[in-house]
Amino acid sequence: MNIILFGPPGAGKGTQATRLVEQFGFEHLSSGDVLRAERAAGTKLGQDVTAYMDAGQLVPDELVIEVILGRVLNSEAEAGVLLDGFPRTLPQAAQLDEALEKADSRVDLVLSIQVPDELIVERITGRRMSPSTGKIYHVKYLPPQREGVCDETGEPLVQRPDDTEEVVKQRLNAYHEQTEPLEDYYRSRGVLVEVEGTQDIEQIADRIGQIVRDRRPK
Ligand code: AP5
Repeated sequence: MNIILFGPPGAGKGTQATRLVEQFGFEHLSSGDVLRAERAAGTKLGQDVTAYMDAGQLVPDELVIEVILGRVLNSEAEAGVLLDGFPRTLPQAAQLDEALEKADSRVDLVLSIQVPDELIVERITGRRMSPSTGKIYHVKYLPPQREGVCDETGEPLVQRPDDTEEVVKQRLNAYHEQTEPLEDYYRSRGVLVEVEGTQDIEQIADRIGQIVRDRRPK
Protein backbone atom coordinates (compact mmCIF):
# COMPACT_ATOMS: atom_id res chain seq x y z
CA MET A 1 0.00 0.00 0.00
CA ASN A 2 1.49 3.35 -1.03
CA ILE A 3 0.49 6.36 1.04
CA ILE A 4 1.17 10.09 0.70
CA LEU A 5 1.21 12.24 3.82
CA PHE A 6 0.09 15.62 2.58
CA GLY A 7 -0.23 19.02 4.23
CA PRO A 8 1.40 22.38 4.84
CA PRO A 9 4.80 22.78 6.50
CA GLY A 10 4.46 21.89 10.16
CA ALA A 11 1.19 20.00 9.69
CA GLY A 12 2.70 17.02 11.48
CA LYS A 13 3.64 14.84 8.50
CA GLY A 14 6.98 13.70 9.94
CA THR A 15 5.50 13.26 13.43
CA GLN A 16 2.70 11.02 12.13
CA ALA A 17 5.04 9.17 9.74
CA THR A 18 7.08 7.86 12.68
CA ARG A 19 3.96 6.44 14.28
CA LEU A 20 2.70 4.85 11.04
CA VAL A 21 6.07 3.20 10.44
CA GLU A 22 6.00 1.73 13.97
CA GLN A 23 2.46 0.38 13.51
CA PHE A 24 2.51 -0.87 9.92
CA GLY A 25 6.15 -1.18 8.80
CA PHE A 26 5.98 1.22 5.84
CA GLU A 27 9.20 2.64 4.42
CA HIS A 28 9.20 6.36 5.24
CA LEU A 29 10.48 8.46 2.33
CA SER A 30 10.72 12.13 3.24
CA SER A 31 11.87 14.30 0.34
CA GLY A 32 13.02 16.98 2.80
CA ASP A 33 15.15 14.43 4.69
CA VAL A 34 16.60 13.10 1.42
CA LEU A 35 17.58 16.62 0.32
CA ARG A 36 19.01 17.51 3.75
CA ALA A 37 21.13 14.32 3.65
CA GLU A 38 22.46 15.32 0.22
CA ARG A 39 23.39 18.71 1.65
CA ALA A 40 25.09 17.16 4.65
CA ALA A 41 27.08 14.86 2.35
CA GLY A 42 28.12 17.85 0.21
CA THR A 43 26.96 16.30 -3.08
CA LYS A 44 26.34 18.31 -6.25
CA LEU A 45 22.58 17.88 -5.73
CA GLY A 46 22.95 19.05 -2.13
CA GLN A 47 24.73 22.18 -3.30
CA ASP A 48 22.18 22.84 -6.03
CA VAL A 49 19.20 22.72 -3.65
CA THR A 50 20.65 24.75 -0.76
CA ALA A 51 19.58 28.24 -1.83
CA TYR A 52 16.01 27.14 -2.61
CA MET A 53 15.55 25.34 0.71
CA ASP A 54 17.02 28.14 2.80
CA ALA A 55 14.72 30.66 1.08
CA GLY A 56 11.64 28.49 1.67
CA GLN A 57 11.09 27.90 -2.04
CA LEU A 58 10.39 24.60 -3.73
CA VAL A 59 13.38 22.92 -5.30
CA PRO A 60 12.90 22.67 -9.12
CA ASP A 61 11.09 19.52 -10.25
CA GLU A 62 14.01 18.26 -12.32
CA LEU A 63 16.24 18.16 -9.23
CA VAL A 64 13.84 16.31 -6.97
CA ILE A 65 11.78 13.94 -9.12
CA GLU A 66 14.50 11.54 -10.20
CA VAL A 67 16.05 11.11 -6.78
CA ILE A 68 12.72 10.42 -5.05
CA LEU A 69 11.23 8.19 -7.74
CA GLY A 70 14.41 6.10 -7.68
CA ARG A 71 13.87 5.43 -4.00
CA VAL A 72 10.17 4.68 -4.40
CA LEU A 73 10.79 2.16 -7.15
CA ASN A 74 13.70 0.52 -5.31
CA SER A 75 11.81 0.12 -2.04
CA GLU A 76 11.62 -3.44 -0.81
CA ALA A 77 9.24 -2.72 2.06
CA GLU A 78 6.43 -5.28 1.90
CA ALA A 79 3.98 -2.93 3.63
CA GLY A 80 4.60 -0.21 1.02
CA VAL A 81 5.96 3.30 0.90
CA LEU A 82 4.95 6.30 3.00
CA LEU A 83 5.76 9.46 1.06
CA ASP A 84 6.20 12.66 3.08
CA GLY A 85 6.77 15.97 1.24
CA PHE A 86 6.53 14.43 -2.25
CA PRO A 87 4.81 15.09 -4.59
CA ARG A 88 4.50 18.86 -4.17
CA THR A 89 3.67 19.97 -7.72
CA LEU A 90 1.40 18.62 -10.47
CA PRO A 91 4.37 17.47 -12.62
CA GLN A 92 5.75 15.55 -9.60
CA ALA A 93 2.37 13.89 -9.04
CA ALA A 94 1.98 12.99 -12.72
CA GLN A 95 5.45 11.45 -12.90
CA LEU A 96 4.87 9.51 -9.69
CA ASP A 97 1.65 8.06 -11.14
CA GLU A 98 3.39 7.15 -14.38
CA ALA A 99 6.30 5.45 -12.62
CA LEU A 100 4.03 3.49 -10.26
CA GLU A 101 1.78 2.41 -13.12
CA LYS A 102 4.76 0.99 -14.99
CA ALA A 103 5.57 -1.00 -11.85
CA ASP A 104 1.94 -2.21 -11.70
CA SER A 105 1.36 -0.13 -8.57
CA ARG A 106 -0.44 3.07 -7.57
CA VAL A 107 -1.00 5.73 -4.93
CA ASP A 108 -3.57 4.06 -2.67
CA LEU A 109 -4.22 6.78 -0.11
CA VAL A 110 -3.46 10.47 0.40
CA LEU A 111 -3.85 11.63 3.99
CA SER A 112 -4.26 15.39 3.91
CA ILE A 113 -3.58 16.85 7.35
CA GLN A 114 -5.54 20.09 7.75
CA VAL A 115 -3.94 22.81 9.90
CA PRO A 116 -4.71 26.55 9.54
CA ASP A 117 -1.82 28.92 8.80
CA GLU A 118 -2.15 30.70 12.14
CA LEU A 119 -1.00 27.56 14.01
CA ILE A 120 1.89 26.79 11.69
CA VAL A 121 4.39 29.46 12.76
CA GLU A 122 4.25 28.41 16.42
CA ARG A 123 4.63 24.75 15.50
CA ILE A 124 7.60 25.33 13.23
CA THR A 125 9.52 27.82 15.33
CA GLY A 126 9.08 25.55 18.38
CA ARG A 127 10.33 22.43 16.59
CA ARG A 128 13.58 20.86 17.78
CA MET A 129 15.27 17.78 16.35
CA SER A 130 17.83 15.19 17.28
CA PRO A 131 20.85 15.85 15.02
CA SER A 132 21.66 12.17 14.44
CA THR A 133 18.25 10.44 14.41
CA GLY A 134 15.95 13.27 13.26
CA LYS A 135 13.54 12.53 16.13
CA ILE A 136 11.10 15.45 16.29
CA TYR A 137 10.24 17.39 19.45
CA HIS A 138 8.38 20.61 20.20
CA VAL A 139 9.31 22.96 23.04
CA LYS A 140 5.64 23.18 24.12
CA TYR A 141 3.68 20.31 22.53
CA LEU A 142 6.22 17.49 22.64
CA PRO A 143 9.05 18.50 24.96
CA PRO A 144 11.99 16.21 25.73
CA GLN A 145 12.37 14.97 29.32
CA ARG A 146 15.40 17.23 29.81
CA GLU A 147 15.16 20.65 28.16
CA GLY A 148 17.15 20.88 24.92
CA VAL A 149 18.42 17.28 25.05
CA CYS A 150 17.32 14.24 23.00
CA ASP A 151 15.69 11.56 25.20
CA GLU A 152 17.21 8.74 23.16
CA THR A 153 20.75 9.88 22.34
CA GLY A 154 21.48 12.57 24.96
CA GLU A 155 22.62 14.96 22.21
CA PRO A 156 21.76 18.68 22.25
CA LEU A 157 18.67 19.26 20.09
CA VAL A 158 18.98 21.46 16.99
CA GLN A 159 16.71 23.70 14.89
CA ARG A 160 16.42 23.48 11.12
CA PRO A 161 17.84 26.60 9.39
CA ASP A 162 14.54 27.06 7.50
CA ASP A 163 12.47 27.00 10.71
CA THR A 164 12.46 30.78 11.18
CA GLU A 165 9.29 32.85 11.11
CA GLU A 166 10.37 34.64 7.93
CA VAL A 167 11.17 31.46 5.98
CA VAL A 168 8.02 29.70 7.23
CA LYS A 169 5.93 32.42 5.62
CA GLN A 170 7.66 31.72 2.28
CA ARG A 171 7.13 27.98 2.73
CA LEU A 172 3.43 28.57 3.37
CA ASN A 173 3.18 30.71 0.22
CA ALA A 174 4.83 27.96 -1.81
CA TYR A 175 2.44 25.44 -0.28
CA HIS A 176 -0.70 27.41 -1.13
CA GLU A 177 0.41 28.32 -4.63
CA GLN A 178 2.11 25.16 -5.86
CA THR A 179 1.16 22.24 -3.63
CA GLU A 180 -2.41 22.74 -2.40
CA PRO A 181 -3.85 22.25 -5.93
CA LEU A 182 -2.79 18.61 -5.63
CA GLU A 183 -5.65 18.04 -3.21
CA ASP A 184 -8.10 18.29 -6.14
CA TYR A 185 -5.87 16.06 -8.26
CA TYR A 186 -6.07 13.27 -5.68
CA ARG A 187 -9.68 13.97 -4.68
CA SER A 188 -10.75 13.40 -8.29
CA ARG A 189 -8.98 10.03 -8.16
CA GLY A 190 -10.91 9.02 -5.03
CA VAL A 191 -7.85 8.52 -2.82
CA LEU A 192 -7.84 11.73 -0.74
CA VAL A 193 -8.92 11.63 2.91
CA GLU A 194 -8.87 14.83 4.94
CA VAL A 195 -7.68 14.57 8.54
CA GLU A 196 -8.26 17.23 11.19
CA GLY A 197 -4.73 18.22 12.24
CA THR A 198 -5.42 20.54 15.17
CA GLN A 199 -6.03 17.85 17.80
CA ASP A 200 -3.24 16.47 19.92
CA ILE A 201 -0.63 14.26 18.31
CA GLU A 202 -1.88 10.92 19.69
CA GLN A 203 -5.53 11.62 18.77
CA ILE A 204 -4.48 12.32 15.19
CA ALA A 205 -2.32 9.18 15.17
CA ASP A 206 -5.32 7.08 16.29
CA ARG A 207 -7.50 8.55 13.55
CA ILE A 208 -4.87 8.05 10.85
CA GLY A 209 -4.16 4.50 12.05
CA GLN A 210 -7.86 3.71 11.73
CA ILE A 211 -8.08 5.12 8.20
CA VAL A 212 -5.07 3.03 7.12
CA ARG A 213 -6.51 -0.14 8.68
CA ASP A 214 -9.84 0.45 6.90
CA ARG A 215 -8.19 1.02 3.52
CA ARG A 216 -5.53 -1.68 3.71
CA PRO A 217 -6.01 -4.60 1.32
CA LYS A 218 -7.42 -7.49 3.41
P1 AP5 B 1 10.26 19.38 4.21
O1 AP5 B 1 11.35 18.87 5.04
O2 AP5 B 1 9.38 18.41 3.50
O3 AP5 B 1 9.42 20.40 5.09
P2 AP5 B 1 7.85 20.75 5.15
O4 AP5 B 1 6.94 20.13 4.15
O5 AP5 B 1 7.87 22.21 5.16
O6 AP5 B 1 7.36 20.00 6.36
P3 AP5 B 1 7.98 20.01 7.77
O7 AP5 B 1 9.03 18.94 7.86
O8 AP5 B 1 8.41 21.39 8.15
O9 AP5 B 1 6.69 19.71 8.64
P4 AP5 B 1 5.93 18.38 9.05
O10 AP5 B 1 4.56 18.42 8.44
O11 AP5 B 1 6.74 17.14 8.83
O12 AP5 B 1 5.76 18.69 10.60
P5 AP5 B 1 6.38 17.97 11.90
O13 AP5 B 1 5.81 16.61 12.04
O14 AP5 B 1 7.86 18.10 11.96
O15 AP5 B 1 10.83 20.35 3.06
C1 AP5 B 1 11.84 21.30 3.33
C2 AP5 B 1 12.25 21.99 2.03
O16 AP5 B 1 12.79 21.01 1.11
C3 AP5 B 1 11.13 22.67 1.25
O17 AP5 B 1 10.85 23.99 1.72
C4 AP5 B 1 11.70 22.65 -0.17
O18 AP5 B 1 12.65 23.65 -0.35
C5 AP5 B 1 12.42 21.30 -0.24
N1 AP5 B 1 11.57 20.20 -0.73
C6 AP5 B 1 11.24 19.07 -0.04
N2 AP5 B 1 10.47 18.27 -0.80
C7 AP5 B 1 10.31 18.91 -2.00
C8 AP5 B 1 9.60 18.59 -3.19
N3 AP5 B 1 8.88 17.45 -3.29
N4 AP5 B 1 9.65 19.46 -4.20
C9 AP5 B 1 10.34 20.62 -4.12
N5 AP5 B 1 11.04 20.99 -3.01
C10 AP5 B 1 11.02 20.14 -1.95
O19 AP5 B 1 5.73 18.92 13.02
C11 AP5 B 1 6.16 20.27 13.17
C12 AP5 B 1 6.24 20.63 14.67
O20 AP5 B 1 4.90 20.60 15.20
C13 AP5 B 1 7.04 19.61 15.50
O21 AP5 B 1 7.76 20.30 16.48
C14 AP5 B 1 5.96 18.70 16.14
O22 AP5 B 1 6.38 18.22 17.40
C15 AP5 B 1 4.78 19.67 16.28
N6 AP5 B 1 3.50 19.00 16.09
C16 AP5 B 1 3.18 18.04 15.17
N7 AP5 B 1 1.89 17.67 15.30
C17 AP5 B 1 1.37 18.46 16.30
C18 AP5 B 1 0.08 18.56 16.90
N8 AP5 B 1 -0.94 17.80 16.47
N9 AP5 B 1 -0.10 19.48 17.89
C19 AP5 B 1 0.94 20.26 18.31
N10 AP5 B 1 2.20 20.20 17.79
C20 AP5 B 1 2.40 19.30 16.80
